Amino acid sequence: MDTTPLKIIHITDLHFFEFPKNILKLFNKRILGCLNWEWNRKKWFDFSTAKRFLNQLEQYKNTVVLVSGDLTVTALEEEFLLAKKFIDDIRKRSFPLYVIPGNHDYYTFEAIRKKRYETFLSEYLLSEKYPTVISLYDGTPLILIHTVKPNFLSSRGVIDKDQLHRLREIIPSLDKPAVVCGHYPVLHHTKEYHSSYSRQLKNAHLLREVLVQTKVPILYIAGHVHHYSLSKDETNPLITYLCSPPLFYSKVRNGGFCEITLENGNFNIKLNSV
Ligand SMILES: [Fe+2]
Ligand SMILES: [Fe+2]
Repeated sequence: MDTTPLKIIHITDLHFFEFPKNILKLFNKRILGCLNWEWNRKKWFDFSTAKRFLNQLEQYKNTVVLVSGDLTVTALEEEFLLAKKFIDDIRKRSFPLYVIPGNHDYYTFEAIRKKRYETFLSEYLLSEKYPTVISLYDGTPLILIHTVKPNFLSSRGVIDKDQLHRLREIIPSLDKPAVVCGHYPVLHHTKEYHSSYSRQLKNAHLLREVLVQTKVPILYIAGHVHHYSLSKDETNPLITYLCSPPLFYSKVRNGGFCEITLENGNFNIKLNSV
């Protein structure tokens, strides 16, 4: 086991976008996603920083990269190709890389039926079953949870009963600081963001009830809200909740990635711009 302090780079909400070449692919929820992207969100993203981010990674040795979903906008094949290439480019710099899906990666029922996320990301999938527990290079447990479910109109996620059941066994038995990662945050509101009902995680209160059972520090990492946010649990301050902003958000919208170091049992977090 490696004894150097654990370092994690957290990136999220990459949102690679392509307008469908086949117009028939617009006849579902995708039409809403494309219009919203073209009219609103497109101007907030700056993908020209991708190369700079990959260059920045060169300075990190012995680091884990964690990608917490929303690799695409409408789960189109062309978007997954762009996302896969970017993720492969990160892995080429020989980082252990872990990835989970976001709601935009399950955007249409067709994408889910065709298992598009699972097909494109097949070499990064560790298990079909969540929660997935991984022992990182210093022995820190990384617990990946699946919080995405198909929705026709809303962007709500869910943590299902089976995962909660497993987490009820895992969390109280932890004997060292651990990282839990899901696409959706547990808290609906912090001082940095406010999630409307249609964007919240269903059963978030049950997930929090499980997390507060911990006797060791837990860092819960998420994306989805497109804001940087760092807060402690009100009941159990051993739990820290982190949301990172979209990696490709422009400077004006404070995009970037978080660098997490675990030293002497404490998680230190730094937000970096690209
Ligand atoms: Fe997102
Ligand atoms: Fe999301």
